[in-house]
Amino acid sequence: MNALRVGFAIHEQEHVFDHWAELGEPERSVLLRQARRIGASLDEFVDAHRRALAELEAGLEPASIQPPETVCLPEHGGDTQRLESARERGLELLTAGRVAALVVAGGQGTRLGYPGPKGAFPVGPVSDRSLFRLQAQKIRGLARRTSRSIPWYVMTSPATDAATRALFEAEDNFGLAAEDVRIFSQGMLPAWDFEGRLILEAPGRIAESPNGHGGSLTALAEAGILEDMRKRGIDRLFYYQVDNPLVRMADPVFLGLHEAAEAEMSCKVVRKQDPMEKVGVVAEIAGEPAVIEYTELSEELRYAQDARGQLLYWAGNIAIHIFNLDFLHRIAEESTTLLPVHASAKRIESVNSAAEGRASRDPNGYKLERFVFDALPQAARTCVMEVRASEEFSPIKNAEGKESPDSSRAALIACYRNWLRGVQIPTSGEAPFIEIDHSIIDSEEEAISTGITGLADAGKAILVSTGISP
Ligand code: UTP
Repeated sequence: MNALRVGFAIHEQEHVFDHWAELGEPERSVLLRQARRIGASLDEFVDAHRRALAELEAGLEPASIQPPETVCLPEHGGDTQRLESARERGLELLTAGRVAALVVAGGQGTRLGYPGPKGAFPVGPVSDRSLFRLQAQKIRGLARRTSRSIPWYVMTSPATDAATRALFEAEDNFGLAAEDVRIFSQGMLPAWDFEGRLILEAPGRIAESPNGHGGSLTALAEAGILEDMRKRGIDRLFYYQVDNPLVRMADPVFLGLHEAAEAEMSCKVVRKQDPMEKVGVVAEIAGEPAVIEYTELSEELRYAQDARGQLLYWAGNIAIHIFNLDFLHRIAEESTTLLPVHASAKRIESVNSAAEGRASRDPNGYKLERFVFDALPQAARTCVMEVRASEEFSPIKNAEGKESPDSSRAALIACYRNWLRGVQIPTSGEAPFIEIDHSIIDSEEEAISTGITGLADAGKAILVSTGISP
């Protein structure tokens, strides 16, 4: 205990033991275990905190910035033939069993305010199926079409791990083979108050939060996932976020474009509609591709236009990537130097909150995070692909309004309507809700090729029957 106190005192953090005398035995042992773990890396955490604050103060206005080279949609000048050949190439990769999917599901989902892990959130317009179930359906469908299983790596954090594991067990891995599902946890970083002190969220507990989606880049190596990929002969990893039900799982076109570009890391983007949209944009900074957060983009750059009067920095990052295995190894080995840590001011539960006398929602400290897109400039080559937000991006972030469960369900229903329109099924009638099992149909083309045999309009919902059992 003394040695531990000294370790914290060296960094002027001994206040974490201020309430020791009033703690009971169980609380003491919790604090002791946590302090040992944090104490072992305290030098590194103090340094990360210092660097994150320095970055925040510097305010990154990029020196030389250009729009990125992008594979555009056909309606924006993209070459349909190129996209078609990319699809074939991507399907070859999938049928060769070289692709796995990674979902990052370690976030705390504070804006949504849902008590369980976000992946358990009911998003099915008719059945209330969860985000995880919907995504598992997509994986099963892809596996059926390519006759190859697609391992699903699920990254949790200590905030979501136990509940996620319990859910997968209760739901029998959503119909996927147990050997094709690996759940692993990312790490945590301690939170700091504005005076540079660690925050106590309770008298016997130091405040920590998941180390950001960029934490996946180290957790993949530490949890043995990279090794698992190697053993299975997988060298491409499709990365996406748990809160986007429209994700086009392991999109063959994206995979094919990534291959054709000989890229190490690739990125999907959507066209920003409004200069003030709160989305990071992909750009080239000093010749290297990078994501610039909306807070870092000056008003001048936000409104900058090209010769045709279109936004110059329109390429909104939607956090869908492909990584090569070799690249992931390289980043994991040098993550401390290659990936910056970012500080964001947040409201953090604290024993001092009452004494601080601030309104309860005011930020009272910094959470530290790494971002996955910070790996982009490290890639020797990248590919940026434009997609339509209406087809591929409708995340659930907030409890209501924009990017909420309502807007996300509406986007899903709109997609289903389009798919069914292709097979001449009237869907504009009374039924406001439609749901399709993604393991059977996952696109308009598939709706046509699957051959829908029946449709029942049950007043509130349209039930589609295909004659294929899910
Ligand atoms: P967000 O940054 O939107 O965070 O994460 P969030 O936890 O979902 O929501 P808020 O900000 O607390 O309201 C985008 C994606 O990255 C994952 C999330 O689970 C989500 O899929 N993520 C985020 C992690 O896996 N780990 C993290 O540390 C942070």
